[in-house]
Amino acid sequence: MASTIKSLTSFLFLISSSFLLHSSFHVTKAQAQSYPPLVEGLSWDFYDNSCPKLESIIRKQLKKVFKQNIGLAAGLLRLHFHDCFVRGCDGSVLLAGSASGPSEQDAPPNLTLRLEAFQTIDDLRRRVHKRCGRVVSCSDVTALAARDAVYLSGGPNYSVPLGRRDGLNFATRNETLSFLPPPTSNTSALITSLAKLNLDAYDLVALSGGHTIGIGHCGSFRNRLYPTQDPVMDKTFAKNLYGTCPTSNSNDTTVLDIRSPNRFDNKYYVDLMNRQGLFTSDQDLYTDRRTKGVVTSFAIDQQLFFERFAYSMVKMGQLSVLTGNQGEIRANCSIRNVDLFLSSVVEDGEKGLSQF
Ligand code: HEM
Repeated sequence: MASTIKSLTSFLFLISSSFLLHSSFHVTKAQAQSYPPLVEGLSWDFYDNSCPKLESIIRKQLKKVFKQNIGLAAGLLRLHFHDCFVRGCDGSVLLAGSASGPSEQDAPPNLTLRLEAFQTIDDLRRRVHKRCGRVVSCSDVTALAARDAVYLSGGPNYSVPLGRRDGLNFATRNETLSFLPPPTSNTSALITSLAKLNLDAYDLVALSGGHTIGIGHCGSFRNRLYPTQDPVMDKTFAKNLYGTCPTSNSNDTTVLDIRSPNRFDNKYYVDLMNRQGLFTSDQDLYTDRRTKGVVTSFAIDQQLFFERFAYSMVKMGQLSVLTGNQGEIRANCSIRNVDLFLSSVVEDGEKGLSQF
């Protein structure tokens, strides 16, 4: 009798533990982040052998950097976006202008990128190359820095596919302008603009959530204040903006997310529902019937926003990437290797000449 009870108990135990295992498997699967398919040449473990400490070098350094200046997190996130939308994520935005002409950096949307963000990318590159040699590209460093900017500000800790190579050319001013939509765009214009990059309306709403951190200049939302106030804007919010930008040519800055300006969360969408979005391109996402529901769902459910943001970032991070033997691994993020080499030859030559 005793042995029958014992075997019945162990049978029940087996059943219940297999049920538990089964249900926890489902919970884990539901919670697991889903990612878009990887493009050929990129992989999750690209530097596992050649630079296994890559991600920890970057994260450790950025933790220190953000302690000094949390605004840089926004600067780094925006830098990756501006890199990817123009000529793909190939570090072209990092290239300084040359004698042959102005660079992408000189095009209007890029003039408000933060100088310290460029400097931070090259500083990270230097630390990584010191440890591993010249094996990691500036475009991969930029993608990882953007992810850490998100995570260290309170956002999701998503994985970044790696293996990008750096481009040899930058885009012209007109090319840059044609891929980076202005903040005066309405949702229709944004949907059309992102469609050129195979990004859809869902990506648009998720990626716009990047505006949960950082700042904007008066010039970027002047159209909502002058010559007349945008009627969609919350009245008190508008009044405060007139305080920041008292004339139509003021050039001060204000935060993009009034509820939690330095925290990566879903409050940006709550702002939009309260008609407190800063740019036309933000606020119209809640006016347009095609995107309003997605804004609401992200405002209600931060976890859903985090998952969709990570998904769309990985999608954006794979736009027209160079892989394999294409492009190069720059030894200095703002200069092509050939120019770097030529300038060092000239410098050496000058040093040599000055000895005579
Ligand atoms: C959808 C179209 C987008 C438009 C029209 C747009 C436009 C802008 C503008 C005008 C600014 C402020 C520039 C200034 O006045 O200083 C800005 C800032 C910013 N944007 Fe966007 N953006 C868009 C998408 C994105 C995406 C996809 C991301 C990243 C996922 C992003 C991240 C940021 C961040 C973090 C800042 C703050 C930068 C800082 O504080 O230095 N934006 N954006």
